[in-house]
Parts: sequence; structure tokens; C-alpha cells
Amino acid sequence: MYKMVINPEVKKGHINPELQGHFSEHLGRCIYEGLYVGENSDIPNVNGMRKDVVEALKEMKIPVLRWPGGCFADEYHWKDGIGPKEKRKKMINTNWGGVVEDNSFGTHEFMELCKQLGCKTYINGNMGSGTVQEMSEWVEYMTFDGVSPMADMRAENGHKDSWKIDYFGVGNENWGCGGNMTPEFYANMYRRYQTFLRIYNADKPFAKVACGPNGDDYEWTDRVMKTCFDSPKKEHGFMDGLSLHYYTITYDWDNKGSATGFNKSEWYRTLNKTLFMEELIERHTAIMDKYDDEHKVGLIVDEWGIWHEVEEGTNPGFLYQQNTMRDALVAAINLNIFNKHCDRVRMANIAQMVNVLQAVVLTDGDKMILTPTYHVFKMFNCHQDAELLDSHIDVTKIGEDEWMVPNLSESASVDKDGNINITIANLSCDDAYDVESVLVDSKIANVSGEVLTAGMGDYNTFEKADTVKCVEYSDFTVNNDRIKMTIPACGVVKLTVKLAP
Ligand code: AHR
Repeated sequence: MYKMVINPEVKKGHINPELQGHFSEHLGRCIYEGLYVGENSDIPNVNGMRKDVVEALKEMKIPVLRWPGGCFADEYHWKDGIGPKEKRKKMINTNWGGVVEDNSFGTHEFMELCKQLGCKTYINGNMGSGTVQEMSEWVEYMTFDGVSPMADMRAENGHKDSWKIDYFGVGNENWGCGGNMTPEFYANMYRRYQTFLRIYNADKPFAKVACGPNGDDYEWTDRVMKTCFDSPKKEHGFMDGLSLHYYTITYDWDNKGSATGFNKSEWYRTLNKTLFMEELIERHTAIMDKYDDEHKVGLIVDEWGIWHEVEEGTNPGFLYQQNTMRDALVAAINLNIFNKHCDRVRMANIAQMVNVLQAVVLTDGDKMILTPTYHVFKMFNCHQDAELLDSHIDVTKIGEDEWMVPNLSESASVDKDGNINITIANLSCDDAYDVESVLVDSKIANVSGEVLTAGMGDYNTFEKADTVKCVEYSDFTVNNDRIKMTIPACGVVKLTVKLAP
């Protein structure tokens, strides 16, 4: 029996809904086909956005969406994506398959999508190949309400009112595809670019996100924080957030491993690599603390997820992969880690929402399926906007050789209505575990639950869409202040606890 202790009286920080954010890039079939089919499509749509996909994402409670990239962002010129569609410039998507990008999905379409989804907006600007003027004018175009060249142009293009940007990223991976810059060069450029990103409307501010490290590049974090945080004039220095990118890759970039064909050793190897996220967050946080011990700057994990080899027979530049129970565990482990570090992690965006990498939704023509990762996100949405609770679980190490992992991962929070939500993942692909959860100094009135479990390599297909799905969970008993439960192998459980007054 593994003991879990939850202390409902000890709150450890606010869980921003954005910890469960998403990322959409002009890459493969993410935007075109996956989200946007155009008004004239036979696929049911509202103003060009797929109805089925929008509905599914709303039900999952998507809190924020990042766009347009990724590597694509640093080659994207936003003015090519506004105005009459037939006049929009066509460009080569050099990063992703060399296909023609016709710019039919641009700023207006992105804002329409976020309106339909009811989510916040995270725009990633082009520093790598764009000018300061271009970036500055994009912000003016989107957010300025008065008389100005950009606001007038927006009105001419059919949108008189300004939109709200919630987050603005200044470049993407500028240590790599975004310009191969050194940290000092980037940091000084960041200071310059962000100066001209005006907040025109005091009641519609947006957070400025600087490009952060590639995984464990701690030096990048140190140098960018040193140059961009210290500003005598501003409370947050010149920045509100620093991004972090880390992908789980079973082997390495030359051999990422198959999404669906894997054995037990590969299962543990993958989960072990996923858990590295915790060390990354802790070590980058320690460096950020040197400059910002009050945690004013958020760590923004705006690209994470598992990256497999592409599905056989698909365009290698499109990064299309299937999604099994192993991916569901990767998602649950990461989401629990983000919760536990919500004092520094303010947003995280899985890559990428539809048809690319660890997608929550896959489409094929007019068909759509939900992946195991989707179900994990839906279960975890109970933590959005809740307060993290002090919690701890006894674990044992399982796995093989150097690829050992704790058998269980957990986090707990209390929502605005006083419900306590607990999410537990079982990292074993063979064994179920009995867990006794104690809620300190409490009397439990009611418990309900949901579980996602299946074989380690199980996944949903267009022919069999419900192989992996979430069902009601009842494998528990309640006694006064404790819940005894069995967590199935390859399983993710969510419990909602109501306490007696
Ligand atoms: O998500 C795919 C790519 O991975 C993104 O475009 C880039 O930022 C990262 O290297």
C-alpha cells in the first residue's frame, strides 16, 4: 500500500489555466485541414474553422493557444496574411516540407479561432528575419483602437475593433532556427524589439515572453536573465516570461523511435526522459532566482511533448505521429510536474494541438479522433485556476537499468468551490498499485472519479475511435479522512473529493 498525504490547509500556489495550453503552427496538417478548412469546404465549419475540432477543444477547456510557430514564426511576415485571400502572397514553408503556404489563415483567422474556442491568445513574433518595425506594427494592428495606419488597415480589412493579445513571444528558438544567435546578441535584440511592442490599452496589457533555453542550456538562461531582467525603471525588467523548450525523445534526433511499436524497455526509457522536465524546471528556476527571487518572471514551457518518428507513408516534413497510452502517461507526468512548480511555471504549451507531434486531435478528411493525450488534458482541467495543495506520495523505483522511474506521479489542488482534485498516474506497464490517500484533519463527504487505462501500446484509430477512453472510476473505498484505491497499470486516475463542512 503506497501512502499519499494531502494537506488541504496548505496551499502552495495558483495553478494558471495556461499550464494546460496548446500550440498551433503552420506545420503539416495542423492549421490547414486540422483546424481550418475554409468557408467553402464540405466539412462542417463556422467561418472556415472545423466544427468538430473546435467543439472537442472547447470541451477539453483549452485555455490558451500559441501561433504561428515554432520555427515558422521567424519566417512569417504577418502582412502577407491579411486582406482579400486571393491577393495574399504565397510563400515556401522552408522549415516544414517546402510546401506552398498560401497565407489564407492569418491574423484575422487566428483571432476568429480563439474567439470560437474561448481561449487566450499567444502570438509569437518574428525576430529572426523580421524588422522591429514589422513586429511593432503587428501589435499596433491587433491592439490599437484609435486612429493610426495599422488600426485603419485593420478596419479596412473588416475588423473595426481591436483584439486582445494575452502573450507575445519575441522570436522563437533564436539559438537555432530563429537566427542562430548567441545569448548576449539575442538578449540585446530582445531589449530593443520589446521596446516597440507598445501596450496601447492599459486595461488590455499583454505579457512579453523572451526566448529561453534549449533544454538544459543553463548558460542561455543565465545570460538572458542578466541582460533582460535588470531594468531600474520596470518592475519586471524588460520581460514577463522566459520560454523553455524540451521534447521527450526515446532515443535521439537521428532515431526517435516508433510511436506505436515499442517494448517495455522503451516504455521506461521514454518515461524516464520525460521526468527530466522536473530537473530542468528546478535548475532553470534556481538561475532565474538569482536575478528574480520574487518570481515575477514566469517560466513558459511553450514547447513540450513527445517526438516520435513520423507515421510510415506520411510526409517526413509534416511530423504526423500516432498517440498511445505511453503518450498519455507522458502528458500526465508533465502536467503533474507543471502543477507542482506553478510558483514559477505560468504557462506550458504542448506541441502540437492537431495532427502534429503529441496532438490531442487527429483528423483524416472529415473524420476526427481524440487521442489518449486528449483524455488526459480533459481529466486534468479540474486543476485549472485552482490552488495547488501540499501533497506527497510514497513511491518505489521501477524500470530497467539506468531507466528507472518512480511508480507513481501525483498532484492535488482545491478549486473555487472547495472541491479537492487529485490526479495520479501509474507509470508501470504491468502492475496495479494500492494507494491510501489521507486528507489531513478532514472528513470526506463524497468522492467521484474517472480513469483512463488500456494496454501500453493501445491507441485510437479512425476505424476504432474508442479503444482508449475515459470512464467512471469506482475502484476505491472511503473511510473518514482516507481513500483506499487501486490505480491500474498504465493508468491515470482523477478523484474529486468533497469535504464535510
Ligand atoms: O514543434 C516543432 C518544432 O520544434 C518547432 O517549430 C520548433 O520551435 C521546435 O524546434
